[in-house]
Amino acid sequence: MNAPLPAPARDGDFVRIVEVGPRDGLQNEKTLVATADKVELIDRLSRTGLLSIEATSFVSPKWVPQLADAAEVFAAIDRRPGTAYPVLVPNEKGYERAREVGVQEVAVFTAASEAFNQKNINAGIDESIERFRPVLERAAADGVKVRGYVSTVLGCPYQGAVPVADVVRVAKTLHALGCYEISLGDTIGVGTPHQASTMLKAVAGEVPLPALAVHFHDTYGQALANILACLEDGVRVVDSAVSGAGGCPYAKGASGNVASEDVVYLLHGLGMRTGVDLPALAETGRWLAGRLGRETGSRVGKALAAT
Ligand code: HMG
Ligand code: MG
Repeated sequence: MNAPLPAPARDGDFVRIVEVGPRDGLQNEKTLVATADKVELIDRLSRTGLLSIEATSFVSPKWVPQLADAAEVFAAIDRRPGTAYPVLVPNEKGYERAREVGVQEVAVFTAASEAFNQKNINAGIDESIERFRPVLERAAADGVKVRGYVSTVLGCPYQGAVPVADVVRVAKTLHALGCYEISLGDTIGVGTPHQASTMLKAVAGEVPLPALAVHFHDTYGQALANILACLEDGVRVVDSAVSGAGGCPYAKGASGNVASEDVVYLLHGLGMRTGVDLPALAETGRWLAGRLGRETGSRVGKALAAT
């Protein structure tokens, strides 16, 4: 018999999953999902042990009608002590709407590509950052945590290639403004592992690695490989969406996020810890897919159902 291979160097490390399905997943659904189903989704996710669940988005309902019921959803969910429920806000108006229902963590979002930003939020990069400035100031005064997203870090549907220097500049600015964590988003899922690792290392030269998260859409099936490459570089926060739901309505070609079930399976297989109950998460993914009238987009979710 072969001698067992040594355990991976990072065996036992904790990885925080930021579950973005209720926001990134549902913002891209063609048909409106009932408010009660959104609430049930979040409550089910809370019971799986996830520590961070992005609940919804306080953006313009004209731009994203799918999440027009953000306030109702947030007010109705069962907020578990110790679990964070961040929400997306694009401006002060979004911040105020979120605070009215007791939000304690928000996420601001911009991109490394000017062209994508114009389509997504009708503003250039610098202009969008000027919009966040008062949000960050008010959040600091209110004791509200702020996460920051940088989209199109490995490619843009309108501009094509995105220089790594642009990603670094935007990530560094958001961190300097007070975002405690910067999520690096491959919005259209085009990146491959070496490219992801090169980008991450460049950003980590300017922003401390523990303040970085990765956010991969899976359009080209590269997301798990990209995550593995970034884990090897030391990243310990990964965004994903139950059932592989997701996509940005303003990013041509964007498909679902990497499925949370698949990420948790990978991490547990590496000997890493997540605190997440995988069978319960997979069950939630299949439940969501059923509500959306399709099969789960998680390979692990399907495999577990068949065993
Ligand atoms: P605008 O039209 O330029 O803004 O939109 P405006 O200030 O002129 O406002 C237009 C109307 O919206 C006004 O109403 C405002 O009051 C209202 P009207 O006077 O016409 O009746 N409004 C709002 N209403 C509610 N909540 C608000 C709000 N703000 C303005 N917060 C704006 C600019 C940013 C508002 C718009 O472009 C927008 O909401 N965009 C959001 C797009 C979006 O949500 N995209 C998906 C999320 S990003 C993503 O998925 C990527 C990510 O997953 C990472 C990755 O994958 O890379 C995070
Ligand atoms: Mg996304």
